[in-house]
Amino acid sequence: MQIGAFTLPNALFVAPMAGVTDRPFRKLCKRLGAGYAVSEMVTSRPDLQDSLKTSRRANHEGEAAPIAVQIAGTDAQMMADAARYNIDRGAQIIDINMGCPAKKVCNKWAGSALMQDEALAIEIVEAVVAASEPHGVPVTLKMRTGWCASVRNAPTLALAAEAAGVQMLTVHGRTREQGYKGQAEHDTVAHIKSRVRIPVVANGDIDSPERAREVLQRTGADAIMIGRAAQGRPWIFRELAHFLATGEHLPPPTLAEVRVWLLDHLHDHYDLYGEYTGVRSARKHLGWYAQALPLPPGAGAVFRSRVNATTSVEAQLRCVSDSLDEWSADTITIPRDNWKLAA
Ligand SMILES: Cc1cc2nc3c(=O)[nH]c(=O)nc-3n(C[C@H](O)[C@H](O)[C@H](O)COP(=O)(O)O)c2cc1C
Repeated sequence: MQIGAFTLPNALFVAPMAGVTDRPFRKLCKRLGAGYAVSEMVTSRPDLQDSLKTSRRANHEGEAAPIAVQIAGTDAQMMADAARYNIDRGAQIIDINMGCPAKKVCNKWAGSALMQDEALAIEIVEAVVAASEPHGVPVTLKMRTGWCASVRNAPTLALAAEAAGVQMLTVHGRTREQGYKGQAEHDTVAHIKSRVRIPVVANGDIDSPERAREVLQRTGADAIMIGRAAQGRPWIFRELAHFLATGEHLPPPTLAEVRVWLLDHLHDHYDLYGEYTGVRSARKHLGWYAQALPLPPGAGAVFRSRVNATTSVEAQLRCVSDSLDEWSADTITIPRDNWKLAA
């Protein structure tokens, strides 16, 4: 799997998820088998570029190459400037967001709303490619299948984007109108794959090794991208990698392994966010980890309320460590089928 000059170790990608796939989480996913990860989207608005939130999102210290940064916006010139800004701060690949359904993004005609205005979408692509090409930085595009059921224009946009210089396309198999409802369909991805020469990545509802294999086979896609199924389960990548390579299931991780990953994740998280924000923003990750573990009835809720009451790094680490000790005493094992996306 190749993006521009970068050869990736495998075809398992971490989806960009705002508020989730920050640097600590991306690093952990890569350590546990993901071949590629895209940053959370960064705004193209210059007035927000120096905000603490944006500067944290643009922080890639210690992250394995290639550093891929996703940008979002509606103005071609601003998007070109945003590409240059992030390239100056270490971005080696620029990804354009035309997939995010969030109102905050769409009301400003960014994210998936851009798919409604193909001329503007391509103007943006051309401007970002022109800004990135002189630096040898490939531009990629992430989109949905279309705006709504009657306007599934991803194939048209894909061809236009390829002609404009985009070097990889990711397609989430839902329209903007669907949000996250219904099932992702991958026939549109297969159709796009049959029409373009650049790599195509399939995304949407991939939550098991069998599903990963099925989507790869059905679409002919060059890679798959995993979002929600990796929340609290970053080890999903090593399980997918093992299954795709051997056809066998990797045994689930032990609680001792999870302890090491989780505590490393927390330390890295506090390093990036500092104590006040770090302790609070770690809570959602801890909640997802608890969901991924087969805890005794009620134990997840007790854990979450204990964690949510912690306000210092020391107290949060102690709470997590004590809980892991309690669960170890119960000798829980993590079953393979515990990590399906909710229907
Ligand atoms: C919490 C959350 C935040 C997201 N943020 C972004 C984003 O910043 N940029 C983007 O292109 N997609 C974003 N997405 C969409 C995901 O990248 C992905 O396309 C979607 O979740 C479908 O994949 P999945 O079924 O594997 O989760 C987000 C999704 C979630 C759940």
